[in-house]
Amino acid sequence: MKLPPLNSPPDDLDTPALCIDLERMEANIGHMVAACSEQNVDWRPHSKCHKSPAIAQKLVAAGAIGVTCAKVGEAEVMAAGGITDLLIANQIVGPQKVARLVALRRAADPIVCIDHLDQARPIGEAMQAAGLAIRVLIEVDIGMQRAGVLPGDPSVQLAAALAQLPGITFAGVMGYEGHLLRVPDPVEKEQRIRAALESLVETKQQVESRGIACPIVSCGGTGSYTYSVSQPGITEIQAGGAIFMDDYYRNQCHVEGLDFALTLIATVVSRPTPDRAIIDAGRKTMNSEAETPRVISHPGILVQSLSAEHGTLILAPEARGLMIGERLALMPGYSDFTCVLHDRFFAFRDQRLEEIWPLEGRGRLQ
Ligand SMILES: Cc1ncc(COP(=O)(O)O)c(C=O)c1O
Repeated sequence: MKLPPLNSPPDDLDTPALCIDLERMEANIGHMVAACSEQNVDWRPHSKCHKSPAIAQKLVAAGAIGVTCAKVGEAEVMAAGGITDLLIANQIVGPQKVARLVALRRAADPIVCIDHLDQARPIGEAMQAAGLAIRVLIEVDIGMQRAGVLPGDPSVQLAAALAQLPGITFAGVMGYEGHLLRVPDPVEKEQRIRAALESLVETKQQVESRGIACPIVSCGGTGSYTYSVSQPGITEIQAGGAIFMDDYYRNQCHVEGLDFALTLIATVVSRPTPDRAIIDAGRKTMNSEAETPRVISHPGILVQSLSAEHGTLILAPEARGLMIGERLALMPGYSDFTCVLHDRFFAFRDQRLEEIWPLEGRGRLQ
């Protein structure tokens, strides 16, 4: 596929194309760096929304300590891109992955999450056999009821066992307050997030009272970072989607102060009726599960539905002059689930193409 040369205007792109407004993304990055440094908290942004080592490098250059990943494959891609401080915020299980973790440990300094000794033992044994050790966090279930050990005594006991395991360097605790992002009332949201995070910080204190160092207390997403970043005892937050921002964070999580930095350019390919238009972007191009995409380039146009490769738009009277071949800009409803559908980002500054960034971690599901 022939890509447009750098410095091209957006109209030179074929569609559908996923575009980044660099000034807005950089403003969001600056906002997150400032929010963290004001509280003396580290920023380890989750890379699941961009899966791009080039963007990760930009984040680290701006002040992030490293990145969070969900999969070993994503961490491998980030390490190949020069990022060394990597948190894999998931449990790693199975001999194939453990072998890759050993190779990754030679190239970088990853951290993995554990909620049972059955995950830790094979990893520790493999690391020890290779003459290595790997940092480990305990994932604490602070109410989300996904993975994780309960706070307090169960976590303290696991920490004590991990601290004894050869090949393992116990490094702290992690919890994700993901179940509280969409609490509508801001007072209740803050109160419940703080209560959840207090249980994480108390767990760290209980671990330390057993004489076990627990330097890292990691948590926080874009939908909650305004509270988690100022929670006493937290050492780092993982908010990642903040660099793009979207309607899911704004409408459902009530996040403010960040700019929308991602747009999807599509072409009108059919005008079957005066009030209906079809674009070349359906659900294989943008996700509408978490929040419906929004047309931002033209007034009076609503996304009615997405099928695999068609987007159906409903036109208000003032938009009915829309013609086949016209291009529209849409804002993905939830950037995380949309980016993963694309091979590359086209990054623009002042309407000129400045960078093309492949999502190298895309499809790295193992
Ligand atoms: C472990 C973990 N940390 C952080 C996040 C938040 O990510 P984001 O800020 O991109 O919404 C998530 C989201 O699913 C997560 O699973």
